[in-house]
Amino acid sequence: MTITHEDELEGLREIGRIVADTLHTMGRALEPGMTTAELDAIGAEILEREGAVSAPQRTYGFPGATCISMGEVIAHGIPGAQVIRAGTLVNIDVSASRNGFFADTGASFRVGAVPASLNRLCTDGRKACQIGVAQVRAGRPLGAIGSAIGRFASKRGYTLIRNLASHGTGRALHEYPEEIPTWPTRDRRAITDGLVLTVEPFLSRGGLWAEDGGDGWSLLATPRAPCVQYEHTVVATRGKPVVVTLAG
Ligand code: CO
Ligand code: CO
Repeated sequence: MTITHEDELEGLREIGRIVADTLHTMGRALEPGMTTAELDAIGAEILEREGAVSAPQRTYGFPGATCISMGEVIAHGIPGAQVIRAGTLVNIDVSASRNGFFADTGASFRVGAVPASLNRLCTDGRKACQIGVAQVRAGRPLGAIGSAIGRFASKRGYTLIRNLASHGTGRALHEYPEEIPTWPTRDRRAITDGLVLTVEPFLSRGGLWAEDGGDGWSLLATPRAPCVQYEHTVVATRGKPVVVTLAG
């Protein structure tokens, strides 16, 4: 969507705060030994309490309130009986709507102490997202986002998953301008004033593509490699971008 009135920004900020609070509460609740279904239930309860509706569940019939991805699964993992283990990463992605406004956020979390290489991947994954967000400004090409992230990734020896794009959001989970690359392309479409979009690079130590994991939802990295994702919903302005997925 394109924000044209202050009350639209308020509606978007509200759902942005709700998904961010849900994400961070789930992140704090992460404990070795719990199942991803138990973790998802915590998120579902917060969304319900806030009067929000899970976007993947409502829009696509996803079998869970939130996407929880771990092990070889890098995105769209289905919450279930899998047990969360210490020393691993868990990605949680929360998108939801309230009063007709949608926001989308995600982060990869460390469960206990993880190997140094995974620690670095998390720190740099968050940085890659921030670098992309900083490119969001009315008048710039959408391709500027992926160019900046791509420079950062190659300088540090990482790869980017090249078929999991960012997207427009705000009035639906996925909307115009549909696929927004977070890897280098020549996408000349302009970022316009008030445009609402996500920035969610998938930074990896070798992965290049996401492929079908066989259960109808889960996506795996090809070649198999550790991967993190950090996502914010952002409003473009003529000045600094407005990040709406901030915890309250
Ligand atoms: Co998301
Ligand atoms: Co998204």
